[in-house]
Amino acid sequence: HSILILNGPNLNLLGTRQPEVYGTTTLDDIKDLCAEHGKALGVKVAFEQSNHEGVLIDAIHAAKGTHAGVILNAGAYTHTSVALMDAIFSTMLPVIELHLSNVHAREEFRHQSYIAKAAIGIICGFGAAGYPLAMDALLRYLGDAD
Ligand code: DQA
Repeated sequence: HSILILNGPNLNLLGTRQPEVYGTTTLDDIKDLCAEHGKALGVKVAFEQSNHEGVLIDAIHAAKGTHAGVILNAGAYTHTSVALMDAIFSTMLPVIELHLSNVHAREEFRHQSYIAKAAIGIICGFGAAGYPLAMDALLRYLGDAD
């Protein structure tokens, strides 16, 4: 299997962006962590980031037929983007919603998620460690791991 790990707006600034909320791990560190974990699991990992809603939608469309599933940290688009939700429904790819922070312990507007309506499950609040956790969960869902 091959999986796509897709990151949305402002996540390119991880490491310096509100470290009290998101920690000091950079997106490159997370990419390395995912590549390493992918090797251990025997799965191919593609890792992408965009600040643009349409680019994220294109990436989900392109994942159909290329990847078995997607781990999506949609950043703030989580709380606003009907279009991203529709992209997931349109491809019917298994998607795991991911957040570094525990969005439910934060502002009210972060409690709403359009992604959740189309996702198979959600991991949030574990910081960068959530990425390998999401990979384990996706592989288990796909029947590649036990
Ligand atoms: C986030 C949570 C979102 O509410 C926020 O807009 C982000 C990051 C997280 O990973 O904790 O950009 O998705």
